Amino acid sequence: MGFTPGTLLREGKTKKIWSVQGNARLCLVQMKDDTTAGNGARHDVIEGKGVLACAIATSVFELLYRCGIPLAFHNRVDDTRFLAKRCTMIPYEVVIRREAHGSYLKRHPMVPRRTRFPELLVEFYLKTTGRRFGDHALPCDDPLVLFRSGAAELYLPDVELSRQAPFLVLTDYPLLDRPEVFEEMTANARMVFGVLEHAWTSAGRVLCDLKIEFGFTATGDLVVADDIENGCWRVLEGDQYIDKQRYRDGATVEATRALYEHVASLTSSFPKIDAHEVLNALG
Ligand SMILES: Nc1ncnc2c1ncn2[C@@H]1O[C@H](COP(=O)(O)OP(=O)(O)OP(=O)(O)O)[C@@H](O)[C@H]1O
Ligand SMILES: [Mg+2]
Repeated sequence: MGFTPGTLLREGKTKKIWSVQGNARLCLVQMKDDTTAGNGARHDVIEGKGVLACAIATSVFELLYRCGIPLAFHNRVDDTRFLAKRCTMIPYEVVIRREAHGSYLKRHPMVPRRTRFPELLVEFYLKTTGRRFGDHALPCDDPLVLFRSGAAELYLPDVELSRQAPFLVLTDYPLLDRPEVFEEMTANARMVFGVLEHAWTSAGRVLCDLKIEFGFTATGDLVVADDIENGCWRVLEGDQYIDKQRYRDGATVEATRALYEHVASLTSSFPKIDAHEVLNALG
């Protein structure tokens, strides 16, 4: 597909989003070398990381595409950029968990690390920046949301759940009027995890959890958008994480780059996995 990059639409911590001249339905997603942890508390520029993240995202999205999951991703166009449907992003992070890790352990301190959930857990976090949501000042960014009695209860994600009340209850929240979208996001999130879990199992590693984001395309279709790369999941090789968790835990820039190289190499064999085999395995 021929296209000419247009203007910079958005720049975040890890990506730049460019318009495509003459086609308002598309955008170019450019992966940066910048790497952050702890909401920007740690920041490094890891040379070559953008290329590796783009390679990982491409392998992941090509597999998901083959399994029929609706995506913003279209195709990789060069080392660091892929073409995607330009989306109105939905301001939730959707987290799918097979095992207990990370913030889950802080909310449920009685649950041992690596406890396996036979049925996948799907959680929603409200995407916020600068500790604000509309007129509300928040005690943290990206709170956990529990939808109860027609309202969205916001909780601190890293504090024991049984010891806290919601710090805010929103009676008006994104997609309140479209409950079917939550059902579709939940179903698609499970499908995405199932496909990637199968791929990682085939590669002899364990996919523990995953964060994805959804958007609406120009034609109103719900798709998995943003990216899925080594900062969006926890993957265990033996008892070691091979994802960005190691960077969060203090790994050096060199060690982090080596992990991205390792994961790019492993995921590059994902597209060879037969989609029918994956879907059969999922039942
Ligand atoms: N296909 C797409 N269409 C439109 N916007 C997109 C698409 N994919 C990603 N974005 C948006 O691009 C922006 C930049 O991404 P990046 O992940 O770097 O931001 P960030 O600093 O992590 O902030 P955020 O908390 O919004 O993710 C984000 O707001 C993201 O939602
Ligand atoms: Mg982001």
